[in-house]
Amino acid sequence: PRSIWLSRHGESEFNLEGKIGGDAPLSARGEMYAKKLPDLVRESVGDDRPLTVWTSTLRRTIATARFLPESYNQLQWKALDELDSGVCDCLTYQEISELYPEDFAARDNDKYNYRYRGGESYRDVVIRLEPIIMELERSENILIVTHQAVLRCIYAYFMKKSQADSPWMAVPLHTLIKLTPRAYGTQEERYDAKI
Ligand code: F6P
Repeated sequence: PRSIWLSRHGESEFNLEGKIGGDAPLSARGEMYAKKLPDLVRESVGDDRPLTVWTSTLRRTIATARFLPESYNQLQWKALDELDSGVCDCLTYQEISELYPEDFAARDNDKYNYRYRGGESYRDVVIRLEPIIMELERSENILIVTHQAVLRCIYAYFMKKSQADSPWMAVPLHTLIKLTPRAYGTQEERYDAKI
């Protein structure tokens, strides 16, 4: 049966600094993940199975996918870019809580519906992912390298979990997730790159 592979990008410089959003390059550990990803994918996908790789348009996902075999088609989707944090882009959570205390509390109260000033909510992301989901439903084997918030939404869709709870879901870095839709539900396997 067909499967969908999901991964966050490798650790970025912003992940290290605790800053959200932005378009930072990979950290040294993130680079290690990018170099390990081809082996991880080969182990899970097999050698002779074709795979299409989708990334966002941001540097950290493209860099994470750049060592994958050239035989894999690669496509960049703006719809896979990280949740737009508007005026809070490139800030730390500490800075956001100081500069926009009311927003910080509002987000904590209703993370799914909270929309950053000049940015997006999780609900907005779910809507912009609709074309991606439709394309995924009618595609063969796809590997998606994307961002934490986007991955939570895609994961919740395939695992039939509540979208409203998905903003709190833990999605580890440096882990490849394989989802295989079956009649009785979606089967999941995880491959930890141990970085
Ligand atoms: O910190 C990494 C990151 O992907 C940010 O770019 C993004 O804003 C955030 O995670 C999303 O997670 P949360 O919705 O929990 O703040």
